[in-house]
Amino acid sequence: MALNFINTSVAWPDLSQPSFLSTTSKLQEAIAFPEFLSSWPIWKYAVTFILGLVVYDQVLYILKKGSIAGPAFKIPITGPFIQALHPKFESYIAQWASGPLSCVSVFHKFVVLTSDPDLAHKVFRSPTYTEPCLVPIAKDVIGHKAWVFLQGKAHAEYRRGLMPLFTNQAISSYLPVQERVLADYFDKFVAASEANKGRPTAFMALFREINCALSLRTFFGDYISPDALVNVPLSMYIPFTKTWLGKRTADAVNAEFARCAGACKANMATGAEPTCIVDQWVSHMRKSNEYREKVAAGDVDAVKPSNLIREFTNEEIGQTLFTFLFASQDASSSATNWLFQVLAQRPDVLERLREENLAARGGDKTKPFDLPMLDSLTYTKAVIKELLRHRPPVIFVPYLATKSFPITPDYTVPKGSMVIPSCYPALHDPKAYPNPDHFDPDRWITGDAEAQTKNWLVFGSERMIALRGDWEHHATDDSERIRVFATLFPMDGCQLVFKRRS
Ligand code: HEM
Repeated sequence: MALNFINTSVAWPDLSQPSFLSTTSKLQEAIAFPEFLSSWPIWKYAVTFILGLVVYDQVLYILKKGSIAGPAFKIPITGPFIQALHPKFESYIAQWASGPLSCVSVFHKFVVLTSDPDLAHKVFRSPTYTEPCLVPIAKDVIGHKAWVFLQGKAHAEYRRGLMPLFTNQAISSYLPVQERVLADYFDKFVAASEANKGRPTAFMALFREINCALSLRTFFGDYISPDALVNVPLSMYIPFTKTWLGKRTADAVNAEFARCAGACKANMATGAEPTCIVDQWVSHMRKSNEYREKVAAGDVDAVKPSNLIREFTNEEIGQTLFTFLFASQDASSSATNWLFQVLAQRPDVLERLREENLAARGGDKTKPFDLPMLDSLTYTKAVIKELLRHRPPVIFVPYLATKSFPITPDYTVPKGSMVIPSCYPALHDPKAYPNPDHFDPDRWITGDAEAQTKNWLVFGSERMIALRGDWEHHATDDSERIRVFATLFPMDGCQLVFKRRS
């Protein structure tokens, strides 16, 4: 059922035509106020207007809803706005259970949710009908020219430059810097527990911090100053609003990142080996420039680099890495919380992990980690996959229908609506993952979880672990309750105590 709610092709009368005047007077006669209306007090007009608005809004909702699941009537005007301010995980479960396609309407925004994996894939793979739905302020905060907002050739140029930064070979050069961060933070975790006299405390904030530090060191290695890792410059100034502070913080981060890009270019010019993402990127730019110079000098034997890219400015590099930071923090922090909580509750799993990791290091826990070791960590990889399935950090990804979107033969998502493919129901589908609420890494080794590619929506439609420390989880009544804080977290903030391993 295609519904065209916004007709942009309405032809307005030409006001310069004389016929317009006579038309207007005829119109005035036709819509002349009935006498009883002219005697109405103001409040009656106001009430009539509000009632008219409520009826209009309700009729629009019913038309847009069509045959899909959702409340028969909308809460007048606002819809479930109050609930949307404090989203409850249980409400999402109920919404997904209501049908493969369901809807809500909050104020003027009509929202269609999918719970079926096939429909979710259809949304993820329909760029002609949908685009990622960002809050309007996102472009101001991240930067209007950031690569994620570019289209066509300009976007492709960035992608070509970025993809080789995530090959196995490139990733292996980031491992030493990551191991340093992990070691530092285990010391911090133990110190936090000691300072709290061994009593459990919420680690949610510290897990955010370790992810921020891991990201920044992976992006910028030692170019980033230790202060910038957690204390963003300018954040001390009085915030008028959160957005005001956010914008200033983003500007300061972008400036620091551009400075790091400059420092990196200077360092790589001395022939240094790449140890972080930005080193790899700059190294590809240097090789591309050398090739272009040789060709310009008439060298017919010049070997074209496998990744021929343009030169990116310090600001472009900084802004791009800022989009990575923005995109990576929530999901990684969510996964970290659940990882430590689940492992503390499942000593059997933790023991197998430790054995496997120690064996990969040849029994020497101080041996630096390298990529061939990762290949041998079958159980570790199964634990990570099971964690991301059991508690997927991202439960859905909001998109905007840029035109009427025939998502099924019976239903067309109206243009301008939000359409939200859900990841959680696919990852807890008992047909794909039997006993889905049980944390069972072995389903990835001896079971057929790996074959359920259609349901694996953890990262949308495609696109380590401690040997040093010990920690205890102090379960509370809220540990297994899920808090939706953009991504998923334990409601009690993850109550842990860290100790050094003897
Ligand atoms: C457990 C960790 C992570 C999870 C579960 C996760 C999940 C997701 C999901 C569901 C999307 C939306 C995909 C779509 O619209 O089809 C996404 C997008 C994105 N993520 Fe992640 N992510 C994770 C970590 C990271 C990290 C570490 C980075 C950066 C280094 C990153 C960078 C991005 C970027 C740049 C996008 C936008 C991609 C685009 O527009 O093409 N993510 N992620």
